[in-house]
Amino acid sequence: MIKFICAKDYDEMSRRAANVISAQLIEKADSVLGLATGSTPIGLYNCLAERCAMGDLDFSKVTTVNLDEYKGLTHDNDQSYYYFMNKNLFSKINIDPANTNVPDGTIEDPEEACAKYEAIIAATGGIDLQLLGIGHNGHIGFNEPADVFPKLTNCVDLTESTINANARFFASIEDVPTQAYTMGIQTIMNAKKILLVANGAGKAEILKKSFFGDITPQVPASVLQLHPDVTVVGDEEAFALIKDLI
Ligand code: F6R
Repeated sequence: MIKFICAKDYDEMSRRAANVISAQLIEKADSVLGLATGSTPIGLYNCLAERCAMGDLDFSKVTTVNLDEYKGLTHDNDQSYYYFMNKNLFSKINIDPANTNVPDGTIEDPEEACAKYEAIIAATGGIDLQLLGIGHNGHIGFNEPADVFPKLTNCVDLTESTINANARFFASIEDVPTQAYTMGIQTIMNAKKILLVANGAGKAEILKKSFFGDITPQVPASVLQLHPDVTVVGDEEAFALIKDLI
């Protein structure tokens, strides 16, 4: 089942999404949270950090597993997702760093890196709540439109347009990673609950396609229609084309 929560703006979206995560942690203090990077969840992470600082949320028993990481970037590289998570969330909450997991971009051999990450996820006992953003083309994690749904954690070649789009964050285009490790679609679908956040007019078209269009690997997020427990939290702009359908 898919629940849609329409917030008036980015701040309200962030607070409403934080409510979903808060409810999860109240229900199960030792939850396993699947986390995402990108610009959309930053407000949500700030909100969780504020609630934790107030004493309203406790992450001491929580384990996290992130969706993806660039291949080749070390933990101290400020463009790595490991760095992003520490900066935007882990350093601001009372989580045990030993309980946070991001795919290891420094492992050269993709087979080893992906198998290791699947084993880490399995050892957690499974993801209780997976947070997702959504790409303009419907990607979730780094699972780009394709002919088949990639199942487990895999190594993806970044498209030229993604590399070009990311170039602004690096000193030169040669420094932009060309590959990434990402949870697969089955890894994501195995989570007990999914929380997807989206804001801005740029996400309106893809939300409609993903949740009201055909289920196809050409629109990776469309697979979420088959998941039993999905909550989509978006702002009015992102919901513009689905508000009459929900
Ligand atoms: C991030 C991730 C991506 C983003 C997506 C949306 O870990 O896996 O799928 O969620 O690209 O990014 P933003 O939020 O920047 O629009």
